[in-house]
Amino acid sequence: MKPIIAPSLLSADFNNLGAEIRMLNNSGADWIHLDVMDGVFVPNISFGIPVIKSVRAISEKPLDTHLMIVQPERYIRAFKEAGSDMLTVHWEACTHLHRTVAQIREEDMLAGVALNPHTPVSGLEDIIQDVDLVLIMSVNPGFGGQKFIERSLRKISQLREMIERSGSNALIEVDGGVNTENIAEIVKAGADAVVAGNAVFKSQDPPATIELLKNS
Ligand code: DX5
Ligand code: ZN
Repeated sequence: MKPIIAPSLLSADFNNLGAEIRMLNNSGADWIHLDVMDGVFVPNISFGIPVIKSVRAISEKPLDTHLMIVQPERYIRAFKEAGSDMLTVHWEACTHLHRTVAQIREEDMLAGVALNPHTPVSGLEDIIQDVDLVLIMSVNPGFGGQKFIERSLRKISQLREMIERSGSNALIEVDGGVNTENIAEIVKAGADAVVAGNAVFKSQDPPATIELLKNS
């Protein structure tokens, strides 16, 4: 099975966002990954609801929104209204994760849970059957262009094993430091979807890189 490729707009040229989205529309990209950062949960601030609305207006691909914000439950409806198809919250940012996941599904979005590099997969044991997606962070969240943390490979396999054992339908998405060199081992470890920011947008030919990622 070819992996789902989700280019992260964080590494796009913000002066030419329309052109970047049209490029993705005409490419083999499966989803558009949108990194929302609040400067509190992570040490960086990116973009939010108005930008996602503008992306939605021209995107022909599903919008995969990754919330790196505290109290994400306050904004579930707002991100639905902005046009998100998938909404991922951080395990570390949710006191009542089960309720938050249910609320995302009630808004007819796929519900994702993201794990920081230090958060063990075992923390998902009691929620894995209720989520549509698990995002394994393979860098510390906050910035594009960081190096893939090798230990993430083990977490991906552990999660694959948990999903199979529990009968969950959750997809495994891997985010951070993915490139054409390491994607094969990431998929082999059990990933269904990969996010790629710098690898796509800083390459000479982004659509060709997306194809390469898909077929590596
Ligand atoms: C990091 C973000 C990632 C980031 C990935 O906090 O969640 O989605 O944009 O960028 P690369 O692929 O450059 O590591
Ligand atoms: Zn992300």
